[in-house]
Amino acid sequence: MVNICCIGAGYVGGPSSAVIAYQCHDVNVTIVDLNQARIDAWNSDKLPIYEPGLEEIVFSRRGKNLFFSTNVDQAIIDADLIFVSVNTPTKKSGMGAGMAADLAYIETATRRIAQVATTSKVVIEKSTVPCRTAQSMRTILEANSNKDIRFDILSNPEFLAEGTAISDLTKPDRVLIGCLQTPEGFAAQKKLVDIYTRWIPQERVITMNLWSSELSKLAANALLAQRISSINALSAICEATGADVDEVAYACGTDSRIGPKFLKASVGFGGSCFQKDILNLVYLSEQLFLPEVAAYWKSVVTMNEYQKMRFTHRIVRTLFNTVTHKRIALLGFAFKKDTGDTRESAAITLSSYLIQEQARVAIYDPKVSAKQIMMDLTEPGVGTNEETVKKHVEVCESAYEACAGADALVICTEWDEFKMNQLDYQKIFDSMQKPAFIFDGRLILDAPKLREIGFRVETIGKSV
Ligand code: NAD
Ligand code: UDX
Repeated sequence: MVNICCIGAGYVGGPSSAVIAYQCHDVNVTIVDLNQARIDAWNSDKLPIYEPGLEEIVFSRRGKNLFFSTNVDQAIIDADLIFVSVNTPTKKSGMGAGMAADLAYIETATRRIAQVATTSKVVIEKSTVPCRTAQSMRTILEANSNKDIRFDILSNPEFLAEGTAISDLTKPDRVLIGCLQTPEGFAAQKKLVDIYTRWIPQERVITMNLWSSELSKLAANALLAQRISSINALSAICEATGADVDEVAYACGTDSRIGPKFLKASVGFGGSCFQKDILNLVYLSEQLFLPEVAAYWKSVVTMNEYQKMRFTHRIVRTLFNTVTHKRIALLGFAFKKDTGDTRESAAITLSSYLIQEQARVAIYDPKVSAKQIMMDLTEPGVGTNEETVKKHVEVCESAYEACAGADALVICTEWDEFKMNQLDYQKIFDSMQKPAFIFDGRLILDAPKLREIGFRVETIGKSV
C-alpha cells in the first residue's frame, strides 16, 4: 500500500488529500496539522471548512484510508509521498513586507521532514510559492540526506477554487507536475502521475520542469485576476456612459479567443490567493530588476482596490452623502458564494469604510459566523477597533432580519439565496426605510423588477 502524508489540513490540504483517498482506496492518506482544533474538527461531524460535496467524501473514507492527526512526525516517517500544503501568506514585516510570500511555514515543514524521515521520500510542493522555492527545499532536504535516504522534490500546484473544490479536484482542467530533469526526478514524477491517472485522463496530467510548474501557478492566478480587474475597469466606464457591463462582457466573451469565463464585474475580487499571488509576482519581478513588469502586475491589485472604494463611495453619495446612523444591510460576507472563507473579502473593506462613516451595519451571511466577522473587522490594518465594531455592527440570522429598518441593502456575495426567486423582495421593501435603496455589487438582481416594487437600484457597471 502507498502511504501519503499531507502536511497542512487547510482549504487545500484537506479537500485535495481527501479526494485522493476517495479515488484510491488502496492508498493510505494521513493529513496532519499542528492546529489541534482544526484536526479535531476534521475528525468530527462538523468539518472545519464548508465546501459542497466535501462531507460525503470525508465521511465515506475517514477511518478507512483517510486519517487526520496532529502526529506530524509519525505521518512523515510512514509516508512514501509527502505533500507540503501549508499556508504561504503575504509577509507582514521585514524584507518584502506587504508583498513577498512568507515562507516560514514551508521551511519549518521541510526541516521537520529532513529531521524525522528514516526512509527515502518524494516531497511534493503543493502550496503556492515563489519561483525557485523548490531549490531552497531541496537544499534543506539534501543537507540531511545520506546514502540510505534520498529526497526527491516535485512541484504540484493546486488549481482548485473554493466553493467548487470537489468538482475541480475530481475533474480538473489539468494537473501540473514539475520535476528536476534527471532520471531520479522523472522516477519521482512517475510515482505521482500514477496516483493522479487513477481518475484523471493521462493527457490532463501535464509534466514539466520544476520552475515552469511553480511559475505557472502564479501566472494562472495573475491572468485570472487580471481579467476581473479589466472588466471592473470597464464597469466604471459603463457607469459613466450608459453602456451595460453584462452586455459588454457577453459581447467580448463570445469571441472564442477571449472566452466567457471570469468576466463577471463585481465589487472586487477577494480570497486568499489572487492578491497574495500577484504581489508575490510583483516582488519576484522587482527582485529580478524588472520594474516595468512589476508595475504591470501591481496595477491589477490597484484596480481591485479602486473598485472596492468606488462602490463604497457610490453608496455614500447615493444616500445623500451621509450614512451616519443609517442602517445598511450587508448581504454576504464570504469572498464568494458556497464558501465560509472570508479572507480578503470585499465585504471587509466595505464594512470597515461604512463603520468609519458612522453607519450601523447589519451583516448576514449563510456560512460565516458572527465570531469570524468580528475577528475580520478587528484585524490590525482594517481600520476599526473592537469597541467601534461592537457599537456599529450587528450580525443577523437572516437576510430579512438584516434588512428590517434598513435604509439600504448591499449585495456583497452572490449567494443563490439572495437571488430574486429566493428572497421575497416585496417583504424586504415593506420592512425598510423609504426611500429604500439596493446596491447590487454582484449583478445578481433584476433591477427593473425591483424598481417596480419601489426600490431605488444601483448596480455595478450600469448607470441608473
Ligand atoms: P490554510 O491556512 O487553510 O491551511 C494551512 C494549514 O497548514 C493550517 O491549518 C496550518 O496550521 C498548517 N501548518 C502550517 N505550518 C505547519 C507545519 N509546519 N506543520 C503542520 N501544519 C502546518 O491554507 P490553504 O488555503 O489551505 O492554502 C495552503 C496553500 O495552498 C497556500 O500556499 C495557498 O496559496 C495555496 N492555495 C490555496 C487555495 C485556496 O483556495 N485556498 C487554492 C490553491 C492554492
Ligand atoms: C482562485 C483560482 O480561481 C484558483 O484556481 C486558485 O487555485 C485559487 O484562487 P478562489 O480564490 O477560491 O480561486 O475563487 P475564484 O472563483 O477564483 O474567485 C476569486 C474572486 O474573484 C472571488 O471574490 C470572486 O467573487 C471574484 N470573481 C471571480 C469575480 O469578481 N468575477 C469573476 O468573473 C470571477
